[in-house]
Amino acid sequence: MSKFSDHNFANEKALIRVDFNVPLDKKTFEITDDTRMRAAVPTIKKILNDGGSVILMSHLGRPKEGPEEKYSLKRLIKHLGELLGTEVQFANDCIGQEAIDKAAALKPGQVLLLENLRFYKQEEKGDEVFAEKLSKLGDIYVNDAFGTAHRAHASTAVIAKFFPADKKMFGLLMEGEVASAEKVLHQAQKPFVAIIGGAKVSDKILIIENLLERATDIIIGGGMAYTFFKAEGGKIGSSLCEEDRLDTAKELLEKAASKGVCIHLPADSIIANKFSDDAETSGSLSNDIPDGWMGLDIGQMAIDTFTKVINNSKTILWNGPMGVFEMEKFQRGTKCIAKAVAEATQKGAFSLVGGGDSVAAVNQFGYADKVSYVSTGGGAMLEYFEGKELPGIAAIKNS
Ligand code: 3PG
Ligand code: MG
Repeated sequence: MSKFSDHNFANEKALIRVDFNVPLDKKTFEITDDTRMRAAVPTIKKILNDGGSVILMSHLGRPKEGPEEKYSLKRLIKHLGELLGTEVQFANDCIGQEAIDKAAALKPGQVLLLENLRFYKQEEKGDEVFAEKLSKLGDIYVNDAFGTAHRAHASTAVIAKFFPADKKMFGLLMEGEVASAEKVLHQAQKPFVAIIGGAKVSDKILIIENLLERATDIIIGGGMAYTFFKAEGGKIGSSLCEEDRLDTAKELLEKAASKGVCIHLPADSIIANKFSDDAETSGSLSNDIPDGWMGLDIGQMAIDTFTKVINNSKTILWNGPMGVFEMEKFQRGTKCIAKAVAEATQKGAFSLVGGGDSVAAVNQFGYADKVSYVSTGGGAMLEYFEGKELPGIAAIKNS
C-alpha cells in the first residue's frame, strides 16, 4: 500500500472516491452542511499542487431507479469550485463517452466532477464491469470516502483490483479517520469512556459489546437508556422502549459487571407530557417516570455524574446524543456533555466524536474545534467500532 503524502502526482490523473453525500435543503437544494466537502479539500489540493489532475466521484442520496434530478451532483459544482479556488468541470454521467473525453482532456491542476455513481444500480451491487469502466478514467485510485467505507460498492471497494499496488491509496481524510479511530480502539489511554446515545439499543448493541472489551466506563444516554431502566424493573412511563431488547439490555449490564466496566445510566431525566417543543416539562428519576410522561433529556444529577466521569478520562469516544437536542427544551444534556468533552480535551484527553447526530450537536453548540477529532462517518464509524473490517479500507489495505 502506498502512502499518499509520499506520492508525487505530477502529470497523473487521480480518480478520487469522495463522500460528497451532503445534506441539501429540500426546496432550494442549497448545501446545508458542507463538512464532508471541506474534509476532502486537503487531499484534492495536494494532488493539484503536485501538478496532477483530479477526477472526483461520489454518490448523493439514495436514488432508486436511475438518474433523479434531485440527486444530481451538479448542485455541488459551484460550492466545490469556491472551496478549491478553481473551476470545476462536470460530466453528466459517471461512465460513457462524455466522462472518458473530459477525463482524457484534463490538464494538470484541473478538476472534473462526475455525476452521481448511484444513478447506476451496478454501483451498489459492486458490479465488476462497472467498476472497471470507472477505473479507466484515472491513472491512480485514491479512496478518501470514509463515510462510505462500510459499503462494498463498485467505486469504494471493487474498483481497487483494477489498479496495481502502487497506484491505489487512501487520501488524507481516510488516513486521518483511520488513525484517530485506531487510537481509540487499539491505543486508548485509560481511563477510557465511551459515551453512547441515540434512540435505539438495537443500533448500538454491537458497539457496546466491542467497547466492553476496551473501555473503562460506558455512559448511556438518549432514548436507549430507558430500555435499560425497564430491563432493571424501573417505571419509564411512555418513554422510548424496545420491548424485544429488554433481555439484551440486561445481558449487557451483566457482562459489563463481570468485566469490571462501569456502566453509567442517567439517574434523572427531563420528562415531558408529549414529544414536542411546547410540551409541559418536569424532572424525574429515570426509573420512576409517571404514566403519560416520557424522558426526553438527561437531568442535572446525570449531567453532574457524566461530567465527572468525562473529566477523569484520557480517551473519550462519543456516538449519539443524550436527548432530543433538536428541540430547545431538551438540548441541555447534550450541550453539557459536549462542553465536558471539550474541557477534558483541553486538559489533554483524546476525544473522537462521530455519528451524524452527535456531530450535528458539537457543531450546533460550537464545540467542533474543541474536540480532538470529528469523524465524517456515521454508519462507517459505528461499524468500525463494532470491530468490523470496512470493505473500503480492506480493498486497499489487503492488496
Ligand atoms: C452516509 O451518509 O451514511 C454515507 O454517505 C453512506 O450512504 P448510505 O448510507 O446511503 O450508503
Ligand atoms: Mg448511512
